[in-house]
Amino acid sequence: MFQWLPHSFILLLVVSFSNGAITNTTIDDSSGSFKFVGSWNTITPTSPCEICSSKPDASKIHGGTWHDGNIRTGASPTTGSFTFQGSAVYIFGIDQAISQPDIAFTLGSTQAVHHYPGTEQFVYSALFFQATGLAADQTHTVNWVFNVDGSTGVPVQAALFDYAIVTSGQEDVQTTTTSRSPETLSKTPRQSSASASVSAKSASSANQESTSSRSSATSAPESQSSTS
Ligand SMILES: *[C@@H]1O[C@H](CO)[C@@H](O)[C@H](O)[C@H]1NC(C)=O
Repeated sequence: MFQWLPHSFILLLVVSFSNGAITNTTIDDSSGSFKFVGSWNTITPTSPCEICSSKPDASKIHGGTWHDGNIRTGASPTTGSFTFQGSAVYIFGIDQAISQPDIAFTLGSTQAVHHYPGTEQFVYSALFFQATGLAADQTHTVNWVFNVDGSTGVPVQAALFDYAIVTSGQEDVQTTTTSRSPETLSKTPRQSSASASVSAKSASSANQESTSSRSSATSAPESQSSTS
């Protein structure tokens, strides 16, 4: 009995980590998950854009890379998209005073227009669009299109895209029993939930079991403190 218990606790801890971890991943504009269609310039440390009127500080931009899109009245559309899998998405760019078009975003039935009303020349890591509460296991696509902001009097308007953050993972550990661990697939759901409530009661002791067994197998950092 005592030999069986610690083994099952260690197994369940692995399950709760793989289900419960909410992870944010940053995806640079240079990733193939971004698509840019129309009038865009791709700026990297080795290919600066001499003709671009927007000259932000590259050291404040993720990876030193960004996409500079522009639009003027009557021009063909300037659009883009970002495809991802996760429960939330955040798209960041560099806001600019006056010369920025309205950016109309669409994700499924969600629509939002990003408009910067401020007066800073550049605002780095500005949140252009966000959506949360999405189906975490599905692929989603955010689309956007530039619309000329007629109030500014600026004929050629530009918007700068920098990176996205995607949230993956599940928040609810107890009710989510899907697991990629092969050991847990052989267990029935009823067994898993029953032992999950046991492990919650003795979570601290189970934690000690797993950390001590792992550390003794490797470097055992805690036993080194006995030398002091
Ligand atoms: C993920 O990033 C977004 C946007 O920066 C932030 O609002 C959210 O709190 C982050 N979530 C986690 C789990 O770090």
